[in-house]
Amino acid sequence: MNKPLILAIDTSCDETSVAVTQGRRVLSNERYSQILMHTKWGGVVPNLAKRAHEEQIDQVVESALKKARTRLDVIDFIAVTFGPGLAIALGVGIDKAKELAKKHDKKLIAVNHMEGHIYSCFVQNAAGNPENEFRFPYIALLVSGAHTELVLFKNHIDYEVIGETLDDAAGEALDKAARMLLGSNVYPGGPVVEQLAKKGNPEFIQFPRPMLSSKNLNFSYSGLKTALLYYLKGQSKAAQNKQIHDVAASFQEAVFDSLLMKLNQAIKKCSINNIVLGGGVVANARLRLKARQLVKKHGGTVLFPPSKNFYGDNAAMIGVAAYYKAEKNLFVSNMETLDRSARARLS
Ligand code: KG4
Ligand code: ZN
Repeated sequence: MNKPLILAIDTSCDETSVAVTQGRRVLSNERYSQILMHTKWGGVVPNLAKRAHEEQIDQVVESALKKARTRLDVIDFIAVTFGPGLAIALGVGIDKAKELAKKHDKKLIAVNHMEGHIYSCFVQNAAGNPENEFRFPYIALLVSGAHTELVLFKNHIDYEVIGETLDDAAGEALDKAARMLLGSNVYPGGPVVEQLAKKGNPEFIQFPRPMLSSKNLNFSYSGLKTALLYYLKGQSKAAQNKQIHDVAASFQEAVFDSLLMKLNQAIKKCSINNIVLGGGVVANARLRLKARQLVKKHGGTVLFPPSKNFYGDNAAMIGVAAYYKAEKNLFVSNMETLDRSARARLS
């Protein structure tokens, strides 16, 4: 029997994304990015994000259906991100999902955005590639703009958060660093820091590696951010400009070392060397290289999303997670009670 066709929606932050998926196969994954709109403000402006989602969503739904060569009446289920994310942005996707589910009499599946980032490592193209199978259990390291988490991925839709950030997320630290280095209207900062760092020396400054001596698996980035602020304050503008590549490379290295030291601890503590890495920051080639090196040392394997379309926010990963929820009969029982949950946790 054919696997169900799912129309998935994610409006958790600054991308209006709609996908059509079937099992792990992605038949379409449309994304309307608001990045240019927010760049001018140096970050996401919630009201503008909401309005842009409202303006774009119908078009993006239509285009996802068209690219997948399907229609709403043959879609089996509708999936939507209910959180975590920006509350008023999440609301736009949830309202649209409810409207379509009611109008076309479909069951609704509510997906946590972070479980989407885990499943982003398992998406396949329309032909079913890559063919890799699930080999539970995994440790998932999720690194996005608002979250930094270590999650035990025990089986489908079965998670345990074993570590998380106590303050800023790793992506947020990179975003803030980019603003300190280049000015307040740089957004998102991660890709900018990556480009600067490519020409710099990561050992130029020894920034602290936060939480190094703590035995738990939590992260902290606010001290590192302050260390950068003080370093820059002690330099003349000319020196700052001259050193910008080295400072970016050193800061980025400290962020990634702190991430991977905790992953290293988690691998030892859980005796699991099967790793997945998801979230926008995984777009960074240096992070992927360092993660590969670490996991290799433990004789394990590491999976990343199979292409750059799945690193950042996208609805395909929501559709794939939703498929495994549908397999377990985890549908929304009463549509009226489904609400956005800006701080939803994985459990
Ligand atoms: O997962 P994501 O797209 O959105 C959230 O759910 O937050 O992650 C966005 C984060 C931002 O902090 C952005 O700066 C970072 O991912 N990012 C990167 C790169 N591309 C995006 N960080 C480092 N290197 C990159 N190439
Ligand atoms: Zn995300």
